Amino acid sequence: MSTEKAPSTTMVIFGATGDLTKRKLIPALYRLKTLDLLPETFNIVGVATRGYSDADFRSHAEKAIDAVKAKSVSEEREQSIGVDTLFSNVRFVSTPFDKREGYAELAKVLDSLDAGCTTPCSRLYYLATPPSFFPIIIEQLHSAQLSGFEGGGRADDPQRDHAPKIIIEKPFGVDMESAQTLNALVSRHFREEQVYRIDHYLGKETVQNILFFRFANGIYEPIWNRRYIDHVQITAAEAIGVENRGKYFEEAGILRDMVQNHLLQLLSLVAMEPPISMESEAIRSKKVDLLDSIRAITSEDVATNSVRGQYGPSAKTGAGYRDEEGVNKESQIETFAALKLDIDNWRWSGVPFYLRTGKRLGQNLTEIAIHFKAVPHCMFTETITGCPENNILVLKIQPDEGITFQFNVKRPGSSNYVESVPMDFSYKESFKTKLPEAYERLLLDCMLGDSTLFPHKAGIESSWRIITGILDGWKELPKEDFPNYSGGSWGPEASDTLIEKDGRVWRNP
Ligand code: BG6
Repeated sequence: MSTEKAPSTTMVIFGATGDLTKRKLIPALYRLKTLDLLPETFNIVGVATRGYSDADFRSHAEKAIDAVKAKSVSEEREQSIGVDTLFSNVRFVSTPFDKREGYAELAKVLDSLDAGCTTPCSRLYYLATPPSFFPIIIEQLHSAQLSGFEGGGRADDPQRDHAPKIIIEKPFGVDMESAQTLNALVSRHFREEQVYRIDHYLGKETVQNILFFRFANGIYEPIWNRRYIDHVQITAAEAIGVENRGKYFEEAGILRDMVQNHLLQLLSLVAMEPPISMESEAIRSKKVDLLDSIRAITSEDVATNSVRGQYGPSAKTGAGYRDEEGVNKESQIETFAALKLDIDNWRWSGVPFYLRTGKRLGQNLTEIAIHFKAVPHCMFTETITGCPENNILVLKIQPDEGITFQFNVKRPGSSNYVESVPMDFSYKESFKTKLPEAYERLLLDCMLGDSTLFPHKAGIESSWRIITGILDGWKELPKEDFPNYSGGSWGPEASDTLIEKDGRVWRNP
């Protein structure tokens, strides 16, 4: 993470009374403050429909800060950070997001805060609302002359360098068409360098490390291809259910919620070509190339290359998805998805990438497992399987962050028994420090104007191309017999079949 301090900033959070602000944004700001990475002047303005006063929002923020402190064994100095030390001013604008007057009031609040900034305060808008409000807020910001695009984005516009930044939460659209429409709207009112589409997975230390692991070591690149790699498995399993997000999930489903963004981002980092530098554009363009080369799953092959699941009740984990609040009793929404994706390029032709993600699975586990090809000749026959197990390199994204390489050795003793053993790197052991939270890094980068870790509009459209094909295909298939997996399991049987029919198995813990 940068050691450069963010510039004086006024951050405006739309949807400030929601879950994201409390659980992620304010805790991330608090931790940036403990690292002394926030500026002297840092104002926060909450915007939401709830009838909060400034004082109400202040106590909302205070509670969020207290909750982080309660969880961490922090130093005395950190304990002393409260709402008054974290924020120079805390303001709240209570308004429906589509009401013009609300933005006029916001403009007045921002002007009054500017007056207290010794160096000009950069503005940062954070759209943390349900996605249906994104277009409305973007239009209204522009109409209220708050987007900084008043000069039409001309290079000679004197305001250009001080233009506000805007962070847009996921999901960015619900399909290819809506993502394109949203991108077009954003481009009409903001210049691309003002826009930060967020995918918090990219802020995770272990995800950033994928490029470092691949390109700061000379030994992997020669074997990182179809000649040595048999297949890749990407798993993002969560033990929790949909919690209090039943209503959102009924619209989204796991394919939109996790695959379109997080899983395809992991895939593109692990499979992209080497960029020429760590510059934002260099990395983004290689990622887009990779996403563009993923073969579309069509209606014809959706049944063979994808699996949907929905969790049912279980003694271990309680209610099924259909019993969650806000969920239709006959819901056909998927809480689990598994895919087999092919990449049509020279490096990966013939190497399948199996992806799976789900709620209420056996345990929390996100990892990328690279399965290498078997030895060409099997001369050690004294093993359980008859041949040595294939080498597997596992990038452990979370929890228990690290990297494991599974390789074969001779088991000590008089027989020639081959056994697979792990070689482990653990962040905890090697660095003895707590890893920063994803939002910390991403908020700081945005304030510093670095968009490297934010998905590009072309990448988002490309990932929607893949997801929209699958969603369209699913619509044409007969209704699923949901629920089809019990809470606490590893998903529906069909997920095992998806990979086993190719002679492979999922790596379940
Ligand atoms: C979010 C999804 O983007 O990521 C959630 O909307 C999911 O459904 C979450 O639980 C997982 O994030 P993390 O950082 O806990 O792996």
